[in-house]
Amino acid sequence: MSTALYSGSFDPMTNGHLDIITRASRMFDHLVVGVIYNPNKSPLFSVEERVSQIQRVTADLQNVSVDHFTGLLADYVNANRFDAVVRGLRATTDFEYEIQMAQMNARLFAPGIESVFLMTSPEYSFISSSMVKEVVSLNGCVDGLVPETILEEIKHKFNV
Ligand code: COA
Repeated sequence: MSTALYSGSFDPMTNGHLDIITRASRMFDHLVVGVIYNPNKSPLFSVEERVSQIQRVTADLQNVSVDHFTGLLADYVNANRFDAVVRGLRATTDFEYEIQMAQMNARLFAPGIESVFLMTSPEYSFISSSMVKEVVSLNGCVDGLVPETILEEIKHKFNV
């Protein structure tokens, strides 16, 4: 059985992330979405809120589960014996960061664990969680970019 991890901050999850999750779920027997607490970012949503949002939005994907972790990604990956770590590439600018991370992780992962990259669908190639938050906070429209139920929660946080 093949298992993969798709990890990130997901603060909040966007339709760009959901696109990657849906496509990756067809490539592996089991996909874990791993919410990470990144101390360099000040999150809008707690880890628990983010896990609950992702669980709700992926409920119809039978082979997808949601977890959270802190610390080194490679430690979590090795301990859980994943076969692969999935990453989405939105633009050439993502490549610089991703290749550095993949090459560092290659040193840290147990033998045989691969980083796998999926190109983001073009309609989501410009989205980031920060941009979504900024636009919503200023009362702008992000319809179609974020799952409906999560959009309501973002609006609630910003009182808009
Ligand atoms: N669609 C939409 N947005 C996307 C996206 C996609 N397909 N892919 C990435 N993004 C966005 C995210 O929303 C995020 O936006 P933000 O910066 O506005 O919040 C941004 O791109 C970066 O996302 P991501 O690459 O998921 O970064 P991250 O900080 O959320 O998580 C980890 C990256 C978890 C893989 C990395 O930080 C990590 O491994 N941390 C653990 C510590 C560690 O092991 N470090 C050593 C690594 S070698």
